[in-house]
Amino acid sequence: MPVRSTASRTTLEMCVSGWSAVKYVFIGVWIIFTVAAGQNFKDHPLVCEDGYKVSSIKRGIAEGKNVGSLTVECERLISTVRNPTCKKSSSPYVCNGTVEACHSDSWIGGFIGYELDVGGALLLQPICCRSDDVKVIEQTCKSVTLNVAGGDFDRSIKRNQLFHSLKCWSQQDLNGVLQDFVWQPSVCEFALSGGRPNRDGSQCSECNCDCGPFTCPDGGVHRRPFKLIHKRLNLSTCQCRCDCIFKCM
Ligand SMILES: *[C@@H]1O[C@H](CO)[C@@H](O)[C@H](O)[C@H]1NC(C)=O
Ligand SMILES: *[C@@H]1O[C@H](CO)[C@@H](O)[C@H](O)[C@H]1NC(C)=O
Repeated sequence: MPVRSTASRTTLEMCVSGWSAVKYVFIGVWIIFTVAAGQNFKDHPLVCEDGYKVSSIKRGIAEGKNVGSLTVECERLISTVRNPTCKKSSSPYVCNGTVEACHSDSWIGGFIGYELDVGGALLLQPICCRSDDVKVIEQTCKSVTLNVAGGDFDRSIKRNQLFHSLKCWSQQDLNGVLQDFVWQPSVCEFALSGGRPNRDGSQCSECNCDCGPFTCPDGGVHRRPFKLIHKRLNLSTCQCRCDCIFKCM
């Protein structure tokens, strides 16, 4: 299990103080060891199919919890991506603001969300994909901060962009208890190898997928589902098909 927290406080800790009224009796280090031992977490794999990229990521906050729902949308990068290879980012995670996941010409092709029981934080481990066909245009990369601690987020990218790498900061409360993570992916434009521009689908408008309401049957703590949506664009007709998968944990 790829998590290790920084013991030191970050400058973003200010965001946390005063945010949660909930008091925890366990200390942060305990969480990390518990998680490392494979206990007390639930994992939510939201992984795009081969040749797809994450095109949006959205987190909703449920009352009293840091994560209520997570939605990942996937879209094809180009009509044919030759031999994409995807793997989980290396572990462990430090979450001290350095790029830990997805390097060089990779794109983020999904996430595994690990829901930590104590504190309710959701750790996102990216799936890093590569193909000889896809080149990241480094000078177009921009860092995008997704959230403040305890806040929701909803970020989508354009068809000629990809989520390239990911930084995170762990957020503790004043007692040093892990509360949340602040996420900052880098968003870059990409080209096909050989400098060919990527024009696939540029004549079509964006797909909007509304997968409708869905409530998990347990009615318990995890009332809101985790959603994985594949947006499948027909390049000749510009029609979009939305394949929605709901996961209740
Ligand atoms: C973050 O942690 C890594 C690995 O321990 C270390 O190499 C790096 O210097 C740290 N960066 C900061 C900003 O503390
Ligand atoms: C795109 O739509 C056309 C017309 O409905 C259909 O004939 C074709 O098979 C579709 N292409 C793909 C890749 O689904």
